[in-house]
Amino acid sequence: MSRDFLSIKDLTRNEIEELFGFAAGLKLSRKTHDKPLNNKTLGLVFEKPSNRTRVSFEVGMFELGGNTIYLGSDEIKLGKREAIKDAARVLSRYLDAMVIRTFSHDRLLEMAQHSSVPVINGLTDLLHPCQALSDLFTIKEKKGLKDITLAFVGDGNNVLNSLLYGCSKLGVKINIACPKGYEPNKDILKNAGAFAKLFGSALDAVEGADIVYTDVWASMGQEKEQKKRSRIFKPFQVNSKLLSLAKRNAVVMHCLPAHRGEEITDDVLDSRQSIVIDQAENRLHLQKAILVKLLQ
Ligand code: CP
Ligand code: NVA
Repeated sequence: MSRDFLSIKDLTRNEIEELFGFAAGLKLSRKTHDKPLNNKTLGLVFEKPSNRTRVSFEVGMFELGGNTIYLGSDEIKLGKREAIKDAARVLSRYLDAMVIRTFSHDRLLEMAQHSSVPVINGLTDLLHPCQALSDLFTIKEKKGLKDITLAFVGDGNNVLNSLLYGCSKLGVKINIACPKGYEPNKDILKNAGAFAKLFGSALDAVEGADIVYTDVWASMGQEKEQKKRSRIFKPFQVNSKLLSLAKRNAVVMHCLPAHRGEEITDDVLDSRQSIVIDQAENRLHLQKAILVKLLQ
């Protein structure tokens, strides 16, 4: 594995499979495994809010014997209080690794370029690799990864971009339904090749799928577009009618937080087909595997 974890693009299939095996072991032995990160400190440099990513990294480090320091948007003020490269070089002298959650992907790349310790992508406007990798780990647990089709319905955002990298690495087919103008990143879509297929309607994308996945219509930083997007995205809501077109045993995924009643209805999110809470839990186990690989 390379020094940083910035994108699933940088992992080989073997490295992903090794991480999945390791995460499964950590999950099984959660209360009894070793604490290999004793005396290591992970910084969490977050310019956007978080529940799952922050808490799973903090608890994960604790369970592995290490510490964390949370640095929210009012603390470091990257690029405002000091240049990104100065912050990166100084933090590298204190910390053993950093998780960065920020806006443009370039800000993350600049931090990684000037850091001398591993940098983990905790979400940018372009990618959310910890999410997508842990989602594929969840899919492997629930369905296996062979002959599986995931239907992603909604916005072509950071989560979808990372799922595209992950699905194509692992041979998972991904059907995509997004409104015109809200498709995923063109290059990433191209990179996914035959594994990814764009559909004009949510109904066509979901038909016969094993997994139905959605995410918010307006991501963090796009709050001003919320109203306009709600109108445009209406035909892309995951509701029971849409779900009935998927396989009978299909599961529903959402990275959370969800905007109930917008991209997903209450009945679907709370249904027996929904695996969103197991999905959220797995962030912890998969990220612990990443932390040990990068830090030990
Ligand atoms: N799914 C996810 O990353 O959630 P948070 O924004 O709460 O971290
Ligand atoms: N696409 C969402 C994911 C949140 C975990 C966002 O960027 O806000």
